[in-house]
Amino acid sequence: MIANYIFLILFSVFLLLCIYSFRRFTYWKDRGVPYDKPNLFFGNLGFIMRRSFWDYCYELRSRHPRDYVGIFLGWQPAMMVQTSELARNILNNDFEYFQDRSLYSNATDPIGSLNLFTVKNPIWKNMRHELSPMFTAMRLKMITELMNVNAKELVLKIKRDFIDKKELVDLKELFSMYTSDTVAYSVFGIRVSVLNNENSPLWYITSHMVKWTFWRGLEFTLIFLMPAIAAILKLNFFSKPATEYVKKLFFNVVEERKKVKNATYKDLVSHLLQLKENVKLPADAGSQLAEDIMIAQAAVFILGSVETSSATLAYCLHELAYHPEEQEKLYNVIAQAVNEKGNEVLEYNDLLELKYLTACINETLRKHTPVPHLDRRCQKEYKLNDKVTIEKGLPVFINVLAIHYNEKYYPEPEQWRPERFSTVNEGDNLNYNFLPFGEGPRFCIGKRYGMMQVRAALAQIVLKYRVEPAVPYSVQTDPYAVYVSA
Ligand code: HEM
Repeated sequence: MIANYIFLILFSVFLLLCIYSFRRFTYWKDRGVPYDKPNLFFGNLGFIMRRSFWDYCYELRSRHPRDYVGIFLGWQPAMMVQTSELARNILNNDFEYFQDRSLYSNATDPIGSLNLFTVKNPIWKNMRHELSPMFTAMRLKMITELMNVNAKELVLKIKRDFIDKKELVDLKELFSMYTSDTVAYSVFGIRVSVLNNENSPLWYITSHMVKWTFWRGLEFTLIFLMPAIAAILKLNFFSKPATEYVKKLFFNVVEERKKVKNATYKDLVSHLLQLKENVKLPADAGSQLAEDIMIAQAAVFILGSVETSSATLAYCLHELAYHPEEQEKLYNVIAQAVNEKGNEVLEYNDLLELKYLTACINETLRKHTPVPHLDRRCQKEYKLNDKVTIEKGLPVFINVLAIHYNEKYYPEPEQWRPERFSTVNEGDNLNYNFLPFGEGPRFCIGKRYGMMQVRAALAQIVLKYRVEPAVPYSVQTDPYAVYVSA
């Protein structure tokens, strides 16, 4: 008898959920917008944890080769736009409608919701203004010196651990060590080297951040793609141990600095201490908020600089291994610059001048775009065109892969051809056809830092070693990763 009741209740709940799903899934049809056919309950996210969102964006453009397409993130309808013209409007021209990202960001997770990537307006605008001076050419020049020191350690480690021992290299892990060493300096002013087998306090955090386990992948997927569920589950953008560690490190550094009178530091910690004074917080905000804001920026700079740059480096070397002619050309360009300069290590300005080096990196960012989609939330009703109006609150995504693989702009887009970028100037988004760092007011704040970090390592590696293929050309994307595809 009880079993019958339970069955009846479960069946009724199931039926109600089915009816609700069907009603939700008519959203785009009712508005005459072409859409990707959803599956019961999961909408278009039935692939999660089996395939990456990168793959979904990549396949969507061939399934729906049109300017925009409706999708369903579970029950939540979202708009995916796929052209450079619409991207320009959403990211830049009509920014006032799309100022915030759509991902989950909740006050119960202050470090996760107050960092520059997730924070909403009006705090974002003020914070961006305060943080931008961290990336002036003068500061980058100084940080490039350290990038070069770390790149040298990288070259030595490759010889010591892989060439001499005849072992295969895990490029992603190796480059995460390099970027971790660099960010330890730019954020905390710590000069340590995990590459040199030193006990780096940051490696504990970064090695956790770049490992996409099933649970971390699921957490991130929900945070980015199903924010309502992430809110119910009260998920954290950064894991608890990583947050605690960043906090500990941050305040240790602050305490140490108090002991040294009149010293000036140019890292993020000193900048954040200044920011604490300058950011205009709500009048009722306590000192805890200011503290959380500082830690949040340190954490997001670590995450932002490690994952994306190491994936770009890994993919670029992979492509060079399969393109010996291009590798030879790159070697010659670097060797010539080194000869002319009379110094094996190229500095900031020298690296900037190596157009072919930049072209190889840009082509890698086009083909193996670390961030396949840019997300925004519509803040007030927006007319996409004469037929379609986007409602307030709707997530709007730019499918960057649809743009980067557009045959009209990049003939034979599956081919890796640095020549495509040989005449492109630094920072040119090619009329919104090249968006690896996003665009508009919320474009990547670490763009020039990230590019320089990749240039410094690549120049030294290519000068010293010839790379050859060791794995099949087509690399499977990581099914647990939301953003980076390696
Ligand atoms: C190859 C390296 C990198 C790539 C491909 C990359 C890519 C991106 C992309 C696509 C966005 C979103 C932009 C948008 O929505 O329009 C972004 C935002 C951001 N990135 Fe990067 N990034 C890289 C390196 C870095 C570095 C080195 C840092 C920190 C030092 C960093 C910190 C950030 C932050 C804080 C944001 C949020 C900016 C805002 O909303 O105001 N990134 N990045």
